[in-house]
Amino acid sequence: MDSILVTGNGPLNGDIPIAGAKNACLTLMPATLLSEDPLTLTNAPRLSDIKTMTALLQSLGAEVSSLNAGNVLAMSSHGLTTQRAEYDIVRKMRASILVLGPLLARFGYAEVSLPGGCAIGARPVDLHLKAMEAMGAEMDLRDGYVHAKAPAGGLKGGIVEFPFASVGATENALMAATLAKGTTEIRNAAREPEIVDLADCLRKMGAQIEGDGTSTITIQGVDRLGGATHRVVTDRIELGTYMLAPAFCGGEVTCLGGKISLLEAFCEKLDAAGISVEETDKGLKVARKNGRVQAVDVTTEPFPGFPTDLQAQMMALLCTAEGTSVLEEKIFENRFMHAPELVRMGAQIDVQGGTATVHGVERLKGAPVMATDLRASVSLILAGLAAEGETRVSRVYHLDRGYEHVEEKLSALGAKIERISGE
Ligand code: EPZ
Repeated sequence: MDSILVTGNGPLNGDIPIAGAKNACLTLMPATLLSEDPLTLTNAPRLSDIKTMTALLQSLGAEVSSLNAGNVLAMSSHGLTTQRAEYDIVRKMRASILVLGPLLARFGYAEVSLPGGCAIGARPVDLHLKAMEAMGAEMDLRDGYVHAKAPAGGLKGGIVEFPFASVGATENALMAATLAKGTTEIRNAAREPEIVDLADCLRKMGAQIEGDGTSTITIQGVDRLGGATHRVVTDRIELGTYMLAPAFCGGEVTCLGGKISLLEAFCEKLDAAGISVEETDKGLKVARKNGRVQAVDVTTEPFPGFPTDLQAQMMALLCTAEGTSVLEEKIFENRFMHAPELVRMGAQIDVQGGTATVHGVERLKGAPVMATDLRASVSLILAGLAAEGETRVSRVYHLDRGYEHVEEKLSALGAKIERISGE
């Protein structure tokens, strides 16, 4: 398994490109199953999760081009051979459940392996199943698979009411509703930019959708969807991650194509912590206002609140802030696994359930640490950029799921970082 070696090395300066959003692409790709016409995605990120979703769609008989130099994914599900998504692929990535809604809506039937949990939590899919039932489907759970069956005339429009704003369940319901007969209303829908991006793509395919980006989405079902070409929205989590690089190390970095509207709550916290963010025509220019980062309290919430996917990175920054910060993780039940690794680097963090209290220290010390999940891995790299000495982050396969060419992007800013293969 590869590891990454980082050496604390002073200020970072320059421009950093931001890729297309992993979490938008992972729902845009299954949307191809809704139509027999081709769907082409541009600005698709080159990540292992995208390769996994490609393998899953190909296992169903869809054609998916390999990401060529132009970051283009050309897809067609004209010749699907099965509606069964096998466990050996689904178990690698939870987002695989997002083929359920499209398959059920277009073919009236789907068999999808239950995804299983992951490091950050049990991550059940009960809300996905309830959404399909609200559209008339029968869901039968047996031998580790969801066996879903639509009514004889296909899915019917209905009311989908979520107890909390689940991103994936909203995406599954939205895709299924585009072909359901009649009107579907999704209440307490997730409002993330990736949901709006999916709705934009579905509208290009002929779907009738209103209210995406708000808590209530209304969909008027249509008989069929056509093909489209769609550009994947900028990855706001990669954006927020790299905005922190100059916050950790000093210097001035512009994240190309960044927009404050993708990350308002995050930018407000950066401002309170003493980090300036300026939107220019190139992107978001970020620098420390003066001297040391200031402690701030953070609570993760569904969009437009502070994103849970930036909690680990923010915790790493606050380890060397002036003062004490309290972080509350409200979305996942076990998303503080980066804390003990940061403590190995000299951080002072006290975790009690879903609350972490971080007492800022002057500077962290490099140490061998282990990545445990995607966002934890990048938080350790950021910490290593500013720590004294060398930090070696192992199990970086987690990193490759969501960050493209980290070492190249950070080296271009002046970071001392290299990948050690095969350790
Ligand atoms: C999406 O996961 C993202 N993944 C996650 O990003 C992100 O952290 C999460 O949304 C929250 O923003 C993708 O888009 C591929 P949820 P998802 O459904 O859809 C519980 C990353 O780092 N829940 O909003 O799985 C669930 O257990 C990843 O890129 C149920 O109880 O998130 C969690 O505690 C990590 N029942 C909470 O809701 C359900 O049926 C939020 O989950 C579904 C979810």
